[in-house]
Amino acid sequence: MSGSEPIPPANLPLAARAPGKCILFGEHAVVHGRAELLLAIDLPLQVGISPSARSSLNRDSAAPDTNPYFHAALERLWTGGPPVELHVTSRIPRAAGLGSSAAFSAALSAGFSAARGGVDRAGLAERAFSVERGAQGVGSPGDTAAVVAGGYVSVNGPGESELFRLTDGERRWTVRRVKDPSWSWVVAYSGIPRSTASAVRAVGERLSAPDGEALLDRFHALAEAGIRAVVAEDRAEVGRLLDENQGLLAQVGVSHPRLEALLAAARPAVVGGKLTGAGAGGSVVVLPMPGRELEAARRIARAGGLPFVVRTETNGASLVAAPVEETGGDPSAS
Ligand code: PMV
Repeated sequence: MSGSEPIPPANLPLAARAPGKCILFGEHAVVHGRAELLLAIDLPLQVGISPSARSSLNRDSAAPDTNPYFHAALERLWTGGPPVELHVTSRIPRAAGLGSSAAFSAALSAGFSAARGGVDRAGLAERAFSVERGAQGVGSPGDTAAVVAGGYVSVNGPGESELFRLTDGERRWTVRRVKDPSWSWVVAYSGIPRSTASAVRAVGERLSAPDGEALLDRFHALAEAGIRAVVAEDRAEVGRLLDENQGLLAQVGVSHPRLEALLAAARPAVVGGKLTGAGAGGSVVVLPMPGRELEAARRIARAGGLPFVVRTETNGASLVAAPVEETGGDPSAS
C-alpha cells in the first residue's frame, strides 16, 4: 500500500505495520524548527491488536511504566474502547535511533484508527505524532511522519509536494515528499541504548548558549544542501555533507566513541557517514561506494556494530491484509 492512501475501517482482531526510519540530515535541529531529511527503511514492525479476555488490561496502572507508547495510544485513540492486547514483532532494534518507537506509534495508531472507522494519511500522521510525543514528552514529528508516509521526506525543507502540516501547538513542521535516489544504505546499531528524550534535552540546553542560533543555522543549511544533493543523486556530495553533519553533531555533544569507531571502520568502503537519530549511543548510517554495501557492513560488524543493508521502504504504515477465509465453496470461484 502506498504511503498516501487512507487507512480503511476494519474490525478487531487486526494487524498493522510500519517501517523503521533513518535520519540523513538535521536531527535535533528539527526539534527547533529547522530542516531535516529522513527515509523509511525496509526493517518492518508489526502490531497485532485483539480483544482481551483480561478485562482490566487497558486500565492496568502498570501500563504507563511498562509501555508509555501503548498508554499514550490508549489515552488518545481508544477512550471508552474495549480491553485489547497487543502482539508485536519487529526487526528494528529498540532504543537504537532506527525508528522503533515511531513505527510502534504509527502502526498502533493505524490499528486503533481502523477499528474506529478509518483515517486519512494526514490524520494518521497527526495521531502517530501525538502518541509518540505524548510518551516522550519532547521531540519533532519527523520520525512518525517518515514512517507514516514511507519513502524519503523532508521536514521544513525543500521537496516536491506537501504531504502534512503538523504542530505541537508551539512549533510548526511541514513535511514534503523528496525524490528517492534508490540507493542502498548501511545502518548499524552500536549496541549502546540511549534515551531520545534525555539526548534532546541535553542538546536543547547546549543550543541555548549564545552560539546556539548560529549552530542551528549551520544544521539547517547542511540539511537543505543534503536534500538537494540527494535529489541530484550526487553521491560524493551527499557523503561530504554527511561527514560535515557528523562534525556538527559531535560539537553539540551527541557523538560517542563507539559511533566514531564504527564510522572509522566503514570509511574505506563509504563516501561518508554520521550518527543517525538522537545519538549519545544508538546507530550510524553510512552511504557505501557503489556496490560496496556488503564490504561496509562487514567492516562495521568486525568493529562490533550490528549492521543492516537497507533500502527505501516506499509503503508507509498500513493495515496487514487479513488472511482470506476458507469458504468451503467452489475452489475455482476465486
Ligand atoms: O533517536 P530517535 O530515533 O528517537 O530520533 C530522534 C530525532 C531527534 O531529532 C533527536 C528528535 C526528534 O524528535 O526529532
